[in-house]
Amino acid sequence: MPSLGFSLGHYGDLGLSEHRKDGQLTKIMRTGVLAKYKDFLPITANTPLFSLGEGNTPLVRCDQLAKEIDCGELHLKLEGCNPTGSFKDRGMVVAVAKALEAGSQAIMCASTGNTSASAAAYAAYCQLTAIIIVPKGRIAMGKMAQAIIYGAKIVTIDGNFDQALEIVRSLTDKHAVALVNSLNPHRIEGQKTAAFEIIDSLGEAPDYLFIPVGNAGNITAYWKGFMEYYQSGRAQIKPGMMGFQAEGAAPIVRGHTIKEPETIASAIQIGNPASWQKAVAARDESGGIIDMVSDDEILSAQKLMATGAGVFCEPASAASLAGLVKLSRNGMDFSQKRVVCVVTGTGLKDTEVALKSAPPFLELPADIVAVEQALGWG
Ligand SMILES: Cc1ncc(COP(=O)(O)O)c(C=O)c1O
Repeated sequence: MPSLGFSLGHYGDLGLSEHRKDGQLTKIMRTGVLAKYKDFLPITANTPLFSLGEGNTPLVRCDQLAKEIDCGELHLKLEGCNPTGSFKDRGMVVAVAKALEAGSQAIMCASTGNTSASAAAYAAYCQLTAIIIVPKGRIAMGKMAQAIIYGAKIVTIDGNFDQALEIVRSLTDKHAVALVNSLNPHRIEGQKTAAFEIIDSLGEAPDYLFIPVGNAGNITAYWKGFMEYYQSGRAQIKPGMMGFQAEGAAPIVRGHTIKEPETIASAIQIGNPASWQKAVAARDESGGIIDMVSDDEILSAQKLMATGAGVFCEPASAASLAGLVKLSRNGMDFSQKRVVCVVTGTGLKDTEVALKSAPPFLELPADIVAVEQALGWG
């Protein structure tokens, strides 16, 4: 194992800070996923407990949006608030900890962008080599910038995500490098903690969970998390799992693989999801659905989330809200329901799409009167 500069277990209370509030000493825990949920994770005495501050993301109640969609109660789970800006960090911290425990020196993944950013960051923190394979020209520039600055070895291929994943599966079978795609069960273990947090915050599971679906690891992970809390008596109900693919990349909905998946939501541009069967099981066991939304529906949900709730997400992340809007418009009644939409990643990684829809700006000289007049105050 490479030298980490700390001993195993040393970071068990990382992020524990103390402040004074009303004269009282209050402890605020930002322990990270490994330490906080260790009883639910595959952690042994030899698993290093470290954190970049992942997890504990906001669950924001949005009454204005709920009113517009005719939904009883609507919450957004802001996974863009994780250290690298997406939900991937929850699973990556577990996958990397287990890779370290097993003595790996290097990790490898295929990615539509967010997995590679997360893998590169956690590899840097632990001084491992990260090798990432990404489809050329199909990943948002902000995500590429992350992989570059964290120092990953980057390979771009003339192909799509599904082909990149095939290459990674084959090479990680052959060489001493740990695969950290969501095929790695430790990724799913870490990602299920988001479901725990939702129940910990609400005191109960929601009636429905809306979530974007790409490679289908995250819907699998949430369902596992909801089931585990239900079985342990921490929740009395289980949510309907409402997964949404993009129309041009909707293999589960269409019932067959898509050779050339196409969508503006590059993070879910996947034609042959690795966790296909598990996503179908989550849908069926929960009484939910897996449906699709068009790029236009995704873009208007992205805008609605930004203007109606102050949340800027990347296009793929808006598929959850787009799904809720679609079902509500089609007559499904949410007026008495509590709904959580998972907002999987921040919009700051993919500003191109937002900038394309910018209205013309007012362009004026640097003059108070001119600005005042243009604003209608003069
Ligand atoms: C922002 C974002 N949302 C949703 C997804 C889909 O998650 P999954 O591939 O686990 O279905 C991804 C996957 O890369 C993503 O990056």
